[in-house]
Amino acid sequence: MHIVSPQVVLVAVSTAVIILLLYLVTEDSTTIASSKVPVASLFIVEPLESRGTDSAADEGPSSPDVELRPEVAKLVSAIKEATRVAAGGKEPSFSDDERDAWHAENPCRSRRELLPKYARRKHVQDVARNRQWDVVLREYSKLHRTCLRTSGNLTHYFMTKSTSNGCKFLIADVMGGSGLGNKILVVLSNILYAILTQRVVLVPTDTLLPFVFCEPFEGSSWRVDNDSIPFPPLSHPSHWQPPQEFYDEFDRSMRDSAGQAATGSRPYASAVTSLGLRKPWILDDQWHPRDRFFCNQEQERYRDIPWLYMTGCLYTLPNLFAVGSFRPTLEALFPDRMALTHLLRTVMLPGDTVWDRSIRIDDAYLAHADRRVGIQVRYKDGTPHYRKMNELYNARITECARANGILPDVDVSVDERTDDSHVAQAARPKRSVVAVFIACLYTGLHDHLTRLYLRHPSAGGESVALVQVTHEDRQEFGVEVDRQALAEVMCLSFSDDLFVTPISTYGGVAQAYGALNPWFLEIRPNVDKPCTRGVSVDICYQGGLEKYVCPYDAKVNGQPISHVVPYLKRCIPEDYARGGVQLITNHSSVLPS
Ligand SMILES: *[C@@H]1O[C@H](CO)[C@@H](O)[C@H](O)[C@H]1NC(C)=O
Ligand SMILES: *[C@@H]1O[C@H](CO)[C@@H](O)[C@H](O)[C@H]1NC(C)=O
Ligand SMILES: *[C@@H]1O[C@H](CO)[C@@H](O)[C@H](O)[C@H]1NC(C)=O
Repeated sequence: MHIVSPQVVLVAVSTAVIILLLYLVTEDSTTIASSKVPVASLFIVEPLESRGTDSAADEGPSSPDVELRPEVAKLVSAIKEATRVAAGGKEPSFSDDERDAWHAENPCRSRRELLPKYARRKHVQDVARNRQWDVVLREYSKLHRTCLRTSGNLTHYFMTKSTSNGCKFLIADVMGGSGLGNKILVVLSNILYAILTQRVVLVPTDTLLPFVFCEPFEGSSWRVDNDSIPFPPLSHPSHWQPPQEFYDEFDRSMRDSAGQAATGSRPYASAVTSLGLRKPWILDDQWHPRDRFFCNQEQERYRDIPWLYMTGCLYTLPNLFAVGSFRPTLEALFPDRMALTHLLRTVMLPGDTVWDRSIRIDDAYLAHADRRVGIQVRYKDGTPHYRKMNELYNARITECARANGILPDVDVSVDERTDDSHVAQAARPKRSVVAVFIACLYTGLHDHLTRLYLRHPSAGGESVALVQVTHEDRQEFGVEVDRQALAEVMCLSFSDDLFVTPISTYGGVAQAYGALNPWFLEIRPNVDKPCTRGVSVDICYQGGLEKYVCPYDAKVNGQPISHVVPYLKRCIPEDYARGGVQLITNHSSVLPS
C-alpha cells in the first residue's frame, strides 16, 4: 500500500526534486511581480461571500468577516492583482448559475462531511479551520478560473508562447513509481508554492490524482494532460528550452544581486542547465538546484517565468518556510505551522467514490466507538520482511498501546474456560468500545490482536473491535488501488490515536489529515523499545536540505536552516534517521491533562 521503494527515494533525494524549464519572458510581458503589487494598508476586512458554495468557505459556523493578518493581506492583494490583470482590468465574472453548474458537474460530498469526522473525536485536540487560508484559497480559485478562461485554447496559448493575460503556470507532476502518499505530498507542496507565487497549478491526469480527489478550485479544473501541453520538457525541448538570452539575463541579474561579478563559470545558468535539457538527471556536487530552489535570489528569477514544470517524489513543503521571502506570509497564514493539515483538508478532498467507501467503513465499524485507534504497518521489503518482522512488530505495537493506555490491558492468565472473576465486570451496563482500524498489506497484526482480545477479558471490561478491510499482499498501482488506499487513509485519519510505520508517507498523510501526533513503531534493528511519540503533526521532508546553499545570499549561505528558522528541525531518528527537515507544529493532538 506504500509508496516507493527505498531505492526510488534515494534516487530522488540525490536527483532534482524539481526540473524546471522555461522560456523567456519577453520585455513587454505583463507578468505580475508580486513585489510590485501595492500593499494593502494594515488590515483588510474580507467579507466572505454569503452564498456559501465557495470551495473553501462553504461550511462551519458562518463567519462574515475575517480580519486578515497584514502578510496574508499582502498575498491576497497579489492574487487579486494577478486576477485583475488576467481579466483585462475588469472584475472577473462568475455568476451564481455558473457556480451552481460547476458544483453540479463536480460534486464533492467530503467538502461538507470531512471536518465533522474529525470534530467528533473526544480524545483529541483538533484544529479549527483556518479562515485566513480559506480566504487565500478562495481568491486563488478566482485567479485559476480567470486565467484558464482568458488563456482560451491553452494548447495554442502555450505553443505560441503567449503571455497576453500575464498568467503564470506550474505543471505539478510526480515521478513515476510513486505511491499515493508521495504523490499527494509532492503535488500539495507545489500547490502551496503555486499559490504563494500566483501561478495556475495544473496536475497531470497521469498522476491519477484527478481520478481520486475532488476538483479543488471552484469554477475551473486542475487537470492537464500531455495531449494539450507537451511535457515532460525533456521530451519536448523545443517548446521548453529557454533561449540564450535567458542565461545571459540570469548571469547579469545574479551578478547584480550578489553585488559582485560572478566569477568564472555561470553558476545559475549551469544550475538551470543541469536541471534541464543537457544533463537532466545528473547533479554534480557543485550545483544543487534542488537546494538553491530554496533561496530568495533564485526565487526572484523564477518569478517571471511563465511556465514551470516540477516533478519529484518527496514532500518539500517544510523548506518553503526556509525561503526568506515566503516565510512571513507562511508564518502569518499558519501560525500553528499546520500548513499540511489545512491544505489536505481543503485542497485534497476525497472524491465521492472514495468518500463513499470511507463512510461505509466508518458507519459499519468506527462511528459508534468511544475511541478509535488507527494502525498502519508497512513492511518495507514485502513478504520476506513481513515473515521476519511480523512477530516483533506485533509485540511492539501491543506493548506500546497497552503501556500508553491506547488499548486495554488483558489478563492472559485468564482464558475462556476459567473466566469467572471477570463475568461481573464484563456485564457492567456501560461497556466502552475501542475500534481498531488496521491498514496493512498482511493480516498478521489483525490475527494477533484478535487472539489477544477475543480470547481474554480486558481489564476494564472494554470491547475491542478490530477491522482490516484489505490485505493485498503486495503494493499495486492504478486508479482503483489509489482509491482504496485513500479510503483507508481517511479511516486511519479519523483516529484518536494513530500508529504509523516510520518513513512511510502513507501513514504520514493520515496523521496530517487527522492533525495527529502519531506513535512511531520502532523499526530500527538495534533499538529495543516499542515506539516513540511524534513531536509534530507535520511529516519529515526525507533527505531535505538542512543547510542553506544560497551563494548569492551571504546572510544565510552555509548556515543550518534550523538556526535561521527554529521550527524547522532535523527529523527525529525514530522516523527518518538519515536526515531531513521537519516542520515542528505547535499544535498537538494531545489533550491537555
Ligand atoms: C487548440 O489549439 C491547438 C494548437 O493551435 C489546435 O491544434 C487545436 O485544434 C485547438 N483546439 C480547439 C478545441 O480549438
Ligand atoms: C506523456 O506523459 C507520459 C507520462 O509522463 C509519458 O510517458 C509520455 O511520453 C508523454 N507523452 C508525450 C507525447 O510526451
Ligand atoms: C506557535 O509558535 C510561535 C513561535 O514559534 C508563536 O509565535 C505562535 O504564536 C505559536 N502559535 C500558536 C497557535 O501557538
